[in-house]
Amino acid sequence: MATTAAAPTLRSWAAPAVPSLRGAGIADGRVSFRGAQWRVSSPMYVLGCRAVMSAENRDVSLASSELERGKQNEGEFSHSGGEQRRRVGRGSRLVGSGSAVPKTLISNEELSKFVETSDEWISVRTGIRNRRVLGEGDTVTTLSVEASRKALEMANVKPEEVDLLLLCTSTPDDLFGSAPQVQKLLGCHNALAFDLTAACSGFVLGLVTATRFIRGGGYKNVLVVGADALSRYVDWTDRGTCILFGDASGALLLQAATDDQDSLLGFDLRSDGNGQKHLHVKIDNEEDPSPSGAESNGSAFKKPGKASYECLQMNGKEVFRFAVRAVPQVVEGALQEAGLSSENIDWLLLHQANQRILDSVSDRLHIPAEKVISNLANYGNTSAASIPLALDEAVRSGKVKAGDVVATAGFGAGLTWGSAIVKWG
Ligand code: ACO
Repeated sequence: MATTAAAPTLRSWAAPAVPSLRGAGIADGRVSFRGAQWRVSSPMYVLGCRAVMSAENRDVSLASSELERGKQNEGEFSHSGGEQRRRVGRGSRLVGSGSAVPKTLISNEELSKFVETSDEWISVRTGIRNRRVLGEGDTVTTLSVEASRKALEMANVKPEEVDLLLLCTSTPDDLFGSAPQVQKLLGCHNALAFDLTAACSGFVLGLVTATRFIRGGGYKNVLVVGADALSRYVDWTDRGTCILFGDASGALLLQAATDDQDSLLGFDLRSDGNGQKHLHVKIDNEEDPSPSGAESNGSAFKKPGKASYECLQMNGKEVFRFAVRAVPQVVEGALQEAGLSSENIDWLLLHQANQRILDSVSDRLHIPAEKVISNLANYGNTSAASIPLALDEAVRSGKVKAGDVVATAGFGAGLTWGSAIVKWG
């Protein structure tokens, strides 16, 4: 893997006020985003590109021969994508969670053996003490299968009952996406599965995306998985970045529910490519050493070199400033959309990047420290996995209870950031 020595720019970058896509919701068959409306009453639902049914007829049964053809045998590729299950549901409930981390643990002491750092520096500046990194046999896919199995078990949902699997990751095991592999290994024969890439904001974006499939598409059971293995992309000789990251996967099962049971109370999602210079993993195109086409065979075509990725580059100070300014804004935006204020929050669950960011954002929002969920001491920054991993731990330990309101917020590369206010259970 190539590393770049490009010095990060120190020019200060201010998150601009950009139009937000917030609080989109359906009222009387109408999806409304600020200033624009799309009517969705009586939409047509397309099943596996073959069968079509109207919104009024969502429970219409497919002919049994169609269903037979759609069934998928284990290990076999089926063009139809399996039996399609579509049910009515406008709200979404969070009914299951699960998580998985690799066994390999790297403590701050261990890190200080190969970069010039100390447990004191890392824990004081970041709050991180340990992180897990992929070991033998671990992949983003295997961790995601384990996390998803636990979420399905908690939700009491069978793999074949899953309609959609969203894998939020920026580090898939296959450039083309790992979601279908997770789907295959889980046995979710009837699900559509695809990846969603938005770095550390990925899970919040995936969560909101999943609710739109339930609300507008009639999907019933949706698995949203956040998983990353940034250990593959950090420069392990760069003490400014390698101390921060860990690998993990976390999953939530969302289930269609009535409007009054809806768990998504409000959201505010944003992005701005102007900030990319502060945090990126860029593609690195090698020069093709072979003679150019014109020299070898007369063709003007010069083959592109084989691509790989550079190591993660970050201007930590700028990302820190961005996070403490932009995150409170989106949490407030999402709360406003939900008709709530910060006093109504039971838990603040931010992307677990740095304890000082968590402290600063909660101070700005006047949320007391005892309501802030934090587990980054054990896992570091696990990118898209950090929110579902922390939520799963909090649910399983009995901290987060049914009916609790959790304000989540992700932020990171892109730059992307966003908040979703959700109710557990
Ligand atoms: N150990 C010891 N010293 C170190 C280390 C280390 N691991 N890293 C840096 N230093 C030194 C620096 O060289 C510098 O020394 P100098 O003063 O002699 O030049 C000094 O410590 C201060 O370095 P800074 O980089 O200014 O330290 P800072 O207080 O900004 O902390 C940190 C760095 C922890 C990275 C912080 O900026 C941060 O957390 N930023 C936010 C990162 C983040 O949230 N990313 C989220 C998105 S991730 C994603 O989307 C994939």
